[in-house]
Amino acid sequence: MGRAFVYVILGGGVSAGYAALEFVRRGVSHGELCIISNESVAPYERPALSKGYLLPEAAARLPSFHTCVGANEERLTPKWYKEHGVELVLGTGVKSADVKRKTLLTTTGETISYKFLIIATGARALKLEEFGVNGSDAENVCYLRDISDANRLVNAIQSSPGGNAVVIGGGYIGMECAASLVINKINVTMVFPEAHCMARLLTPKIASYYEEYYKSRGVKFIKGTVLSSFDFDSNGKVTDVTLRDGTKLSVDMVVVGIRIRPNTGLFEGQLTLEKGGIKVNGMFQSSNSSVYAIGDVAAFPVKAFGEKRRLEHVDSARKSAKHAVSSIMEPDKTGEFDYIPFFYSRVFTLSWQFYGDNAGEVVYYGDLSASGSTFGAYWVNKGHVVGAFLEGGTREEYEAIAKTTTLRPAVEDLTELERQGLGFAVAV
Ligand code: FDA
Ligand code: NAD
Repeated sequence: MGRAFVYVILGGGVSAGYAALEFVRRGVSHGELCIISNESVAPYERPALSKGYLLPEAAARLPSFHTCVGANEERLTPKWYKEHGVELVLGTGVKSADVKRKTLLTTTGETISYKFLIIATGARALKLEEFGVNGSDAENVCYLRDISDANRLVNAIQSSPGGNAVVIGGGYIGMECAASLVINKINVTMVFPEAHCMARLLTPKIASYYEEYYKSRGVKFIKGTVLSSFDFDSNGKVTDVTLRDGTKLSVDMVVVGIRIRPNTGLFEGQLTLEKGGIKVNGMFQSSNSSVYAIGDVAAFPVKAFGEKRRLEHVDSARKSAKHAVSSIMEPDKTGEFDYIPFFYSRVFTLSWQFYGDNAGEVVYYGDLSASGSTFGAYWVNKGHVVGAFLEGGTREEYEAIAKTTTLRPAVEDLTELERQGLGFAVAV
């Protein structure tokens, strides 16, 4: 059996939802567009899973956070897809793809053919087993990538009132989940191999601000080591965690956030890969002209940096989706993607934004010692401001640092930049 569509989006996450909205806005006809997703729900705003979804009260639940509410756009419920003639094939994985024949084979045995394919398969969480530790299947060991992971995490939280959690990994998942666990009155110990949290983005000085804040909320940090093994009870639940430095901690639950790997497997050997993702040009077109890739899985040229990057953040997922659809439907009117990376996080009452690139010399401003303060940093590379971080800013201040990293003003005197601080960005 088989069906044919003009446009197929493979994957039903953030970028798929934004692509669907853009297709409909550009006037796709009923029956031309199909989304295939192995998740059982329509595309939703994944960032909610580590924040609102884990709250002890008034927790976010679907359908409230279907895309595209995160960008203050329409909320695309299953009814919306139906009304606009977009075929949603949910709870269905694609198990093989043939880009020469332009076909996908699903886990239900259906062959779906396309004229244009958008790969929006995102990424999967790396498992402890990939680092030589067994135990991921225990019911109190939680990862966080999709709704089913989030439900398992909520169950573990509810089964551990006042209990102890170990959070493995000091990146985004680790930091955001640790905050959510504390809000749920669970005692948290964070374990990660680096010298400070969020090592991919933050400098030691900025990271230390967040670590001190977390400590003030009762979080303990064990740094410079990794998990070595688990002990289990007779029901297969993890009871103790042993670290490589010899520390043993008794636990009620474990949360693991140790990076992701893009879901490229279906296309290896068929499309050109780069930076662990699918290599695309500034129109999001892959090495096969009928196939596009967007979101976490795409390695696209970031003009301002003069190189390809694969970003793992929601803003690039949303904007790459819109741009790819524009490239497909109006190629003559669509230029190359021109994008400045944007990352953010919200934990407890803290909130930060980062724009651009964290390369070059760092110039700090504001008070990094006081809790609840406004502070930030600029990254100056080859005489230009290329990156900017701001904690606790206003909307206007965030817009100012965004504009600054887009314009990349020249800076000769770093001391003067430090003296002007946030005022420099506001005046740009
Ligand atoms: P996404 O992962 O959203 O979707 C991929 C889809 O493809 C899934 O539906 C998957 O099931 C499906 N799929 C994969 N293989 C398939 C196959 N073979 N067949 C069928 N379907 C398949 N970013 C940020 O900037 N700020 C934030 O606060 C957060 N917070 C956050 C929290 C949590 C818990 C996570 C996990 C991630 C974030 N992120 C974030 C990152 C952000 O969510 C991420 O960059 C986007 O979801 C990427 O969107 P994609 O559409 O590329 O992948
Ligand atoms: P990450 O890259 O942010 O952090 C991974 C962390 O894993 C590192 O900080 C490191 O401490 C740790 N680590 C690596 N190897 C380890 C090992 N052997 N043992 C223990 N720890 C180890 O990735 P993540 O936190 O897993 O997040 C997954 C994805 O979700 C990322 O793409 C991230 O961008 C995305 N996400 C983004 C946000 C946001 O933008 N606010 C929020 C949540 C998730």
